[in-house]
Amino acid sequence: MELILDTADIDAVKELCGLLNVSGVTTNPSIIANSGKSFSEVVEGLIEVLDEDQTIFIQVVSEDFESMMEEARYISSLRPKNMYVKIPVTHEGLRAIKACKAEGIGVLATAIYSADEAFLAAMNGADYLAPYVNRMCNYTDGVKEAQDLIKMLAAQGLESKVIAASFKNTHQVHELILSGIQAVTIPPAVAFAMVDHPGTKIAVDEFTSVWNKAYGRTTLL
Ligand code: E4P
Repeated sequence: MELILDTADIDAVKELCGLLNVSGVTTNPSIIANSGKSFSEVVEGLIEVLDEDQTIFIQVVSEDFESMMEEARYISSLRPKNMYVKIPVTHEGLRAIKACKAEGIGVLATAIYSADEAFLAAMNGADYLAPYVNRMCNYTDGVKEAQDLIKMLAAQGLESKVIAASFKNTHQVHELILSGIQAVTIPPAVAFAMVDHPGTKIAVDEFTSVWNKAYGRTTLL
């Protein structure tokens, strides 16, 4: 499974890449705009901290086909490889996904609110599909919809990978890992919540304290 970070926080990316086996970083227009940095600062920062095998996903902002294509070509030119263009699955977006694939541009179909939308984007050739798990929960069971999508792709032999997105808690991530999801993109807060169980710190403090009482030091040697 690919573990991807959903953020424009370069320091968090650096820290989590040190701790975990991170495959890449997704962003979207809100994530970049809310970072307080310019688009170029975010993109250059990500290119600098990630190695060339780690993927970067940048979303188009325009909503019409021609401008989406212009932005997609620009995004794709920012890095020699592993730079994917995120395109929402609107009518214009579905046309752009087909056109990007014809031009050899890597695509993540995004803003997906149902397994059906995702499946059709897969048929248009999207490399990755991002169902918005938590946001879908306003309409239906987001986890189940992503689980259905995994089954639909397998049943029809489509090779698009699912990057489940829009997570608000570790339980949603846990359920989809259990279901064999190919990738998840999670905000740093959810990644740290998965890593930092308070019981681990309590256990380590206890080991150190017992050792210190017995041997008068907090190291083995
Ligand atoms: C990732 O590709 C999406 O842009 C992101 O996960 C959306 O998450 P949100 O629901 O927290 O905005």
